[in-house]
Amino acid sequence: MTTPLICPSILASDFAKLGEEVRAITEAGADWVHIDVMDGHFVPNITIGPDVVKALRPHSNLPFDCHLMISPVDSFLEAFRNAGADYISLHPEAGPHLHRSLKYIRQLGAKAGVVLNPATPVEILDWVMDDIDLVLVMSVNPGFGGQSFIDSQLRKIEVIRKKLDAVGHHAILQVDGGVNAQNAHKCVEAGATAMVAGTAVFKGGPDAYAANIKQLKGL
Ligand code: DX5
Ligand code: ZN
Repeated sequence: MTTPLICPSILASDFAKLGEEVRAITEAGADWVHIDVMDGHFVPNITIGPDVVKALRPHSNLPFDCHLMISPVDSFLEAFRNAGADYISLHPEAGPHLHRSLKYIRQLGAKAGVVLNPATPVEILDWVMDDIDLVLVMSVNPGFGGQSFIDSQLRKIEVIRKKLDAVGHHAILQVDGGVNAQNAHKCVEAGATAMVAGTAVFKGGPDAYAANIKQLKGL
């Protein structure tokens, strides 16, 4: 089994010290920095925008993985890319033309991701397979950190794993929401190659980050 990429969600970090927190997870062995962008409209919470992403960029050389939970989303894609996003992921429900949005993300020079909510069918992937670098399976309903993992999403990960393998697709298969040391191995067994974790990485403060990340990697 391959070691999964660990993508700490800074939603669970101390927002008063964001730069420090990003440096701390970078030093603690994180693979990517997961940035949850919420607009209070697509999801019932408001977080951070492109200016904050730009301010954080000098604090880490890890890939910035921007998970956009905003609608409409298209008009903000360029701003997030310019702010330093390496991966930009969006929900199909957040705009009228998923295929166009994904193409545009790649045109901007970023990697493109599709995010599936717990009730979003996997078939949405079928006609955008050539246009994605990442599939993100939400194992909670988006909007908040600290929620419980929805077990049915393990089956969804398995179905997507098969779909990708059937055509030799190398997209990253990422899972997000309620991931912890107890369920991380189930995600990997189901076929996930990257895991987002907020609470499970940031619990215990900076001294615990390295051990928390190591535990999630199953090392
Ligand atoms: C939820 C976000 C997640 C979340 C993860 O909308 O996309 O990234 O913050 O946090 P935990 O790991 O605490 O569920
Ligand atoms: Zn997220």
